[in-house]
Amino acid sequence: MKGRTDIVLGVQWGDEGKGRVVDVLAARAGIVVRYQGGANAGHTVVVGDEKYVFHLLPSGILYPGKVCLIGNGVVLDPDTLFEEIDGLTARGKKLARLVISHGTHIVMPYHKQLDKLAEAARSAGTKIGTTGRGIGPCYTDKFERIGIRAEDLANPSVLKEKLTIAINLKNEILTKIYGEKPLDFNEIYTKALKWGERIKPMLGDSFLEINKAVNAGENVLFEGAQATLLDIDHGTYPFVTSSSPCAGGACTGAGVGPGRIDRVVGVVKAYCTRVGEGPFPTEDKSDLGNMLRTNGGEFGATTGRPRRCGWCDLVAVDYAVKVNGLDGLALTKLDVLTGFDEISVCTSYKVDGETRKTFPSSCADLAKAKPVYEKLKGWKEDISKCRKFEDLPKAAQDYVKYIEEYAGVPVLLIGVGAGRDDTIMRGI
Ligand code: GDP
Ligand code: IMO
Ligand code: MG
Repeated sequence: MKGRTDIVLGVQWGDEGKGRVVDVLAARAGIVVRYQGGANAGHTVVVGDEKYVFHLLPSGILYPGKVCLIGNGVVLDPDTLFEEIDGLTARGKKLARLVISHGTHIVMPYHKQLDKLAEAARSAGTKIGTTGRGIGPCYTDKFERIGIRAEDLANPSVLKEKLTIAINLKNEILTKIYGEKPLDFNEIYTKALKWGERIKPMLGDSFLEINKAVNAGENVLFEGAQATLLDIDHGTYPFVTSSSPCAGGACTGAGVGPGRIDRVVGVVKAYCTRVGEGPFPTEDKSDLGNMLRTNGGEFGATTGRPRRCGWCDLVAVDYAVKVNGLDGLALTKLDVLTGFDEISVCTSYKVDGETRKTFPSSCADLAKAKPVYEKLKGWKEDISKCRKFEDLPKAAQDYVKYIEEYAGVPVLLIGVGAGRDDTIMRGI
């Protein structure tokens, strides 16, 4: 029998709890694959008293005996990767086997420099609020076809040739546009060769590993980073990342055909957050937003920035269901809503006086959207020990059912705490 393949991806603007959902589901998978994004991601996993934040390593890395893949669609910063691996080893952890695809693009030091320079040069209102991890400039080079791939690091003559072209070009930009010092070729080449020595034994191909595993009856989990509303095509452009977090990104970013995907699960926070710039209709800048931030510990796992907070936006959830063909949802942080007398959910927008229930494709329209709320009853009971849906207070059950009905797909998993075991499984 063939193994099953699940994509787990973000529904909102990131930080929905993808890492913790993948960590829970990885127990039943043979392979966990990152398929896009880079170290802009910060995926938190809590096991017992220990907390881990993964930027590049797939969230299945804590299971020795399993395989973790970094797909060709990822942009990889070797310094961050090695830091993560060494940090876990220093903590005495045994890790899954890591395979890095030959075609994975490498984030070079100049990508991070250019990311920060471009962001600083943007005027107020046009800033994106990037993570500064070199993501946009690295993907730009990939599509310009001047990128350095993981396989190049292990091939000194090819690396020299490609790096010469890239550095000549970057030096024009750095010196003439930004008035910066030119890059030192030898310094970067030497660094890249060192990276290559360590990466060479990990090189492989995600498409081969995935096909082999599925045919051998093993389950494969695709771990999305960022989220639907940060997708370069389907997100709130230009306030997006430079990759494809949506379901289709798993196919191109790992080398798997759409027909091979069995299920797509969208991770949605019980409320909503956003880091960085861009429209966010349900954002609450008053006490409510502050309370959600404090109760939910909403500070970036990558940059430490305070996250913008507000009620859950079901118009956006419905959009994510359609864009990704979601089969179900994983609803996280339901426990954070404990204690509110009333919980609001956004069910439509008013845009220029007109009611609409579809997510606007225009960012300018979204910026004008005023949320229309449905008020639901809150609950006061501690739900962190609930392990079955029936254990939840009626108001919490009703909240979950309301989301299911609106979205038209079942809630397959509920998070009632950050830990691996703080989970209600519902047929997943
Ligand atoms: P990701 O980027 O989607 O993996 O999410 P992050 O790790 O950036 O942010 C999610 C945060 O919420 C982390 O601090 C998690 O430990 C925490 N978290 C995840 N699920 C739950 C949950 O159900 N309840 C609570 N209280 N915290 C959760
Ligand atoms: P995870 O996987 C939340 C946001 C940045 C910025 C925009 C572009 O942890 O959910 P970039 O550095 O990608 O060019 O920044 O995207 N962003 C995220 N926000 N969670 C993330 O990842 C994010 N990755 C990027 O804040 O607004
Ligand atoms: Mg995160």
